[in-house]
Formats: sequence, structure tokens, C-alpha cells
Amino acid sequence: MKTAAIILAAGQGTRMQSDLPKVLHQIGCAPMVVHAMASANTLEPERLIVVTGHGGDLVEGAVRDWRADAIFAVQAEQLGTAHAVQQAAAGLEGFDGDAVVLYGDTPFISGDTLAAMRDARADGAAVVVLGFEAANPGGYGRLVTGPDGLQAIVEAKEATPEQLAITLCNSGVVMADAATLLDLVGAVGNDNAKGEYYLTDIVGLARSRGMSCAAVTCAEQETMGVNSRTDLAAAEAVFQWTRRARALEDGITLTAPETVHFAFDTHIGRDVTIAPNVVFGPGVTVETGAEIRAFCHLEGCHIAEGAQIGPYARLRPGAEVGGGARVGNFVEVKNAILHAGAKVNHLTYIGDAEIGERANIGAGTITCNYDGVFKHKTTIGADAFVGSNSALVAPVTIADGGYVASGSVVTSDVGPGDLAIGRARQVNKPGLGARMVARLRSLKEKR
Ligand code: UD1
Ligand code: CA
Repeated sequence: MKTAAIILAAGQGTRMQSDLPKVLHQIGCAPMVVHAMASANTLEPERLIVVTGHGGDLVEGAVRDWRADAIFAVQAEQLGTAHAVQQAAAGLEGFDGDAVVLYGDTPFISGDTLAAMRDARADGAAVVVLGFEAANPGGYGRLVTGPDGLQAIVEAKEATPEQLAITLCNSGVVMADAATLLDLVGAVGNDNAKGEYYLTDIVGLARSRGMSCAAVTCAEQETMGVNSRTDLAAAEAVFQWTRRARALEDGITLTAPETVHFAFDTHIGRDVTIAPNVVFGPGVTVETGAEIRAFCHLEGCHIAEGAQIGPYARLRPGAEVGGGARVGNFVEVKNAILHAGAKVNHLTYIGDAEIGERANIGAGTITCNYDGVFKHKTTIGADAFVGSNSALVAPVTIADGGYVASGSVVTSDVGPGDLAIGRARQVNKPGLGARMVARLRSLKEKR
């Protein structure tokens, strides 16, 4: 069965108190709407339609980064969830199959849950609604069920006291044949407490046309929506705990899981050890057996097998750490390849560089990659040695086995096996140190 996903993302999100459209606020370094897309992706949708309104251009840009062929439908005025779904009609043209409606501000619907909804469709329900047992039903729509399944959804504002006592609530996720869904939303009116076109009315309408409806349930946590910064923080916490649990299940050691922060797309291999207080930004891959020591910040980087990072290392986009290589404390690496076995152990900045196998970069080395206008590359060969406190002024190359004396400012290329000393020659003055101190002391006594 082919599927099309419709993600509703037109709402302003007033309570976020933000200039950014609500669905672009991030959880695990990815916009909320991308989480909803990931839920949808578990059904391998042939089409993905995003209904936008407030900040539509920004939402389109963010969505396209993750799915280039996404279709956008603009809902200029937010007249209700049924009206929002109607805007997807053009995007569904010529599509034959099921449509699932998700909310852009509801990031945690699982693949298993959507699969259960698909099963309910296969079992013959024309409309399948995702419900949950709410701890505090409050303003949620209530699912009215009977002996033959779901009868109706009643919005809290329209509900009778008996209906308000129902704890089985509407998540908002709906699945139906696309043509049937469009047909039903077209028949929804707005004569209700909010004067809105309620998507929830399609259940009653379907029943009145003799179609069967079913409710599938999931854990309340999956249906968690984000309406405020407080909700956003709570959602981030849920994301992090879920991700940590998965990491542990996948064979990753987290010595203090509560202090490790993952991103949406963090990939970590088996037998990686992650010490306390490590933060993963987007785009990080860590291969088997690597070790990330405490207090590291990593983003947009790849760490090969058995590499050792930190403590207190910062890997920025384009950092590529080879097998068994080491990046130590207070080292920053950006857009640079460290080949296997290279060592950059202390207090160093490596930017726009390539460092050969087994090369050793001494403490306090700086690749001077920026001249104020352009960025330049530093190339360091295999088995090279760079002495401590050296400044490598790019563009510059240190060939294989090249040796840089500590404290050097290297401005010209160093040949293979050569020694470069780029600093003033040391001069020793016998006895002058002691004589100088004696003179200073006598000056002090005279004051
Ligand atoms: C909706 C459901 C309610 C359910 C609750 C779950 C309806 C009528 N009610 O209520 O049964 O319990 O979600 O959270 O569907 N949106 C648009 N365009 C619109 C209106 C909404 O894109 O014109 C989007 C919003 O951005 C949001 C989602 O649809 O992502 C839900 O809208 P919202 O107004 O929050 O619905 P609720 O009143 O919470
Ligand atoms: Ca809502």
C-alpha cells in the first residue's frame, strides 16, 4: 500500500514567544518538523506534503534540506485542522493510496505506532485515529468508542460532562485512504465553539456514511506536543533519554548517561566509550572502539576506530580523525584530516589541515589558517614532528619526517626529513642574570 504523509505545520505557535516558526525550534539539533518527517519516513511515503502558514518560506527551506522532493501547501489563514488537510489536495493529485496526517509540533510518534495504524487499515477500518490514555485529558479531543469501534471524536469545548470524563484522547494522527480523507474533510463545517474546521469531525461523518473507524493507541509520551519553551525543554529531555537508552542498548558505554547529549543524527559504533559531559552537535559519526573522554564538544566530524578524543577536546565541522589517532585536552580541530595514529595531544588549534600518519604535533601548536581574508591549508606529512609552541603559517607544507623545532614560526615549506628552526638564536651571557638581580635589589633598598 502506497502512503502519502501530510504534516500540518501552519500554526504560529504564539506561546513559543518567538520570531522563528514553532516547527523550526530544534530538538536534538534538528527542527521539530524534521522529527515528524522521520516518523512519517518509517512508512516510506511516496509523497510528503507539508502544510505551511506562518514563516512558510523558512519552513520550506528547512524541510527541503532533509527531503528535496517535499511538496508544500500554503494555508494562508489557519481555519482549523480539517481546512489544513484540505490544502494538501493539490499535492495529492493523481495519488492513489493511504494518507497519514501528522503534526509538525508532535515529534515522537514511533514507527511501530504508525505500523499498527496501517495494520488497522488493512483490517478494514476506513479511518484510523491514534489515541492515548491521557493523564490529564484537559483540552484534548475525546475518543468516543462503542461496540463496533470508534464512534466520534468530540473536542473538549463541545463535550458533555460524560464525554469529558473519557480519558482516551485524540493525538491528532489520522490515517485513511487519501481520496476518502479529502472527501471527508471537504464535508466538515465550522459551526462549533471555535468556529474552526475540525479534522476530528471526519470520524462522525465517516460513521454516518456507514464506514468503520478504529482507534489505535500508543503511550502518551509519543503524542507529546510542543506549544511553549517549557514543552520544548521537556521534549528535549525525552529525546535525550530515549537516545541514551538506545545507545546503551546498541553496546555503547556511557559512564554518566544523564550528562551526554546526542543529536538527532549521531551515529556511534559498538564498544565506544563516552565519558561524562560530552555534547554531540549534528553530523557526528564515531566508529567502533573509539573513546570520547570527558567534556568534549563534537560536531560535523568523523572519528575512526580506536581513536581517543579528549578530555576537553572540540571537534568542529570537517574534522576527520583517523584510526587510533589522538586528540587531547584543549585541542580544537576544524576542517582537517588527522591520518591514522597522528597525535595532537595538548593545547592546539588545527584548522584547514592534513596531518600524516603517526605525525606528532606538540603542545601549543597553531595552524595559522586565516590571513584576515582567505583561509589557507597546512599539510603535514607522515611521521613529521612539530615541536611545542610552533606557529605554522599557512599555506605551508611540512613533508614526511619533517621536524620543526619548538617555538618556530614556520613560513616556508619544510622538506622530507629536514629540520626547520624558525626563531631567534639563543644568546647566553655568563653571570649576567645574577648581576642584574643584585642591581635591582639595591635599587629597591634605596627607595
Ligand atoms: C487538536 C485536535 C484535538 C487533539 C489535539 C492533540 C482538532 C480539531 N483537534 O487540537 O482533538 O486532542 O490536537 O494535540 O483537530 N494546524 C494547522 N492549521 C490550522 C490549525 C492547526 O496547520 O488551521 C496545525 C497546528 O500548527 C498544530 C496542529 O495542526 O501543529 C494542531 O492544531 P492545534 O490548533 O494545536 O489543535 P488543538 O486545538 O490542540
Ligand atoms: Ca495543540
